[in-house]
Amino acid sequence: MADEIRSFKVNTGVRIPSVGLGTWKAAPGVVGEAIVAAVKAGYRHIDCAQRYGNEKEIGVTLRKLFEDGFVKREDLWVTSKLWCSDHAPEDVPLALNRTLNDLQLDYVDLYLMHWPVSMKKGSVGFEPENLTKVDVPSTWRAMESLYHTGKARAIGVSNFSCKKLSYLLDIARIPPAVNQVECHPSWQQDRLHELCRIRGVHLSGYSPLGSSGSATVETGLLNNPIISMVAEKLGKTPAQVALRWGLQMGHSVLPKSTNEKRIKENFDVFDWTIPQDLGSKFSEIHQVRLVQGTSFVHETFGSYKTLEELWDGEV
Ligand code: A2P
Repeated sequence: MADEIRSFKVNTGVRIPSVGLGTWKAAPGVVGEAIVAAVKAGYRHIDCAQRYGNEKEIGVTLRKLFEDGFVKREDLWVTSKLWCSDHAPEDVPLALNRTLNDLQLDYVDLYLMHWPVSMKKGSVGFEPENLTKVDVPSTWRAMESLYHTGKARAIGVSNFSCKKLSYLLDIARIPPAVNQVECHPSWQQDRLHELCRIRGVHLSGYSPLGSSGSATVETGLLNNPIISMVAEKLGKTPAQVALRWGLQMGHSVLPKSTNEKRIKENFDVFDWTIPQDLGSKFSEIHQVRLVQGTSFVHETFGSYKTLEELWDGEV
């Protein structure tokens, strides 16, 4: 089993490395070093987004890693994401070009629609008046065109509920390869997992350590008594147990760290397993969504008046 889950097959036929370095909230000035540490530790998957504001530094770092021969472009999986203010079909290829320019790449392995939420072209902040009506089909058609150019070797979505993903699958000519969503032992996403399995969409889990990007608080997942008990029994850390649970569920995990020791720790999740008797305990963990998307909900502006509407009741 151990080697089988170093990567997972997606619906384009290629394999996505199962542990990717998350770069959300990895500040400019430290994200480059984190990527070097990750590649040296064996990571072959970097999860980026234009919105994270650090793609330029990532680009400089990747170029150096390729030039110095630490890794070849074709051996690295790089994901990026289309921000909500670039949803107009004519803006989609421009946004990808900007990202490719910043990342100093000819193509990304995966390009995701970051949220099922649209914002005014050129807007930067999260003020409610920046929200506009989302038109998933027209943005998706533009994403499909990117796939045909080869600049995005796979296309997908992020933060799509079961209902929104089903709708997209119904209208898509090219189905999304991936739905990247919050997923960890305290937000397990059982229904979405099942839908993705049936419809051949790979689920990728962000915030796999149960942090919403801030430091993991005392009451957080890494201090959960069940996770701690399993970690102690297996001689692993709580973070490793949380990540390994994700891999055994069949989804890729995108732990963010800018600390070399923790970057290494988070990759040491192969060659051991959580046995069935301990794995069954995970169903007892209290479930709570951490990344709510409250900025995308407004009674006057945008497409969703409530969180219930944004997540189609999966809150
Ligand atoms: P740091 O970058 O200082 O390592 P998530 O990926 O769920 O959003 O979690 C990211 C948060 O968890 C960051 O604050 C990160 O801080 C911290 N973190 C990453 N790896 C570990 C680990 N192995 N143990 C404890 N905290 C970690």
